[in-house]
Amino acid sequence: MEQPQVLQAMPMPRIGDHAPEFKAVTTQGNINFPADYKGGWVILFSHPADFTPVCTSEFLTFATLEEQFGKANCKLVGLSIDGLYSHIAWLRTIKDKIEYKGMKNVEVKFPLIEDITMEIAKKYGMIQPGESSTKAVRAVFYIDPKGIIRAIIYYPLSLGRNFDELYRVLIALQTADEFSVATPADWRPGDDVIVPTAGSCGVAKERMENKDDMKCYDWFFCTRPLDKEKVMKAILKK
Ligand code: BEZ
Repeated sequence: MEQPQVLQAMPMPRIGDHAPEFKAVTTQGNINFPADYKGGWVILFSHPADFTPVCTSEFLTFATLEEQFGKANCKLVGLSIDGLYSHIAWLRTIKDKIEYKGMKNVEVKFPLIEDITMEIAKKYGMIQPGESSTKAVRAVFYIDPKGIIRAIIYYPLSLGRNFDELYRVLIALQTADEFSVATPADWRPGDDVIVPTAGSCGVAKERMENKDDMKCYDWFFCTRPLDKEKVMKAILKK
């Protein structure tokens, strides 16, 4: 009797870990990850399969937004467990034939990794057998200039990613680093940010009575304004 395929359990990379290292063949040549990207941000993302509709809509969008991510010092790297020639043929089809929501003649210039052995996908926890043991889920890894994983988002096969959110996360992570703040629910540049929690009741009381621009909702929850221009200037300057 045929046994169901059991994938060897691999530890999943977590937020705060060094991004697992690998060398790979891509549509833009060989890469050594994450070493080749040190000094800037990189988003490593996976898609289930070439020549599929949701993935095609995502690639059109990723490629259209590549410049916008680039201005925030962030490169894109894609991966699926398809081979290089499939990748090349699919990206050519996207450029030559697909027009979708005003996106047309879209050239994917960022590297797309071939991973037919699934070695990299497994290393990054992109194969989630409950969803599929033969396709990667839609994983998104945010890796900072030191090669540390700073955020991870997973979507199932059927759900195309929200690119406003992917960009918002990148800007929020950089804002947190740049201004030593946290960002509240649904934060967008220009919204108030959260200042670090007060160390003592005395400090909190002082804060709550403070007439400056800080606003405290209670001793553990204080915000202050942070101009959108200031945020974007700090992030886009690099
Ligand atoms: C898609 O991209 O359309 C897709 C890929 C794999 C499974 C389901 C949908």
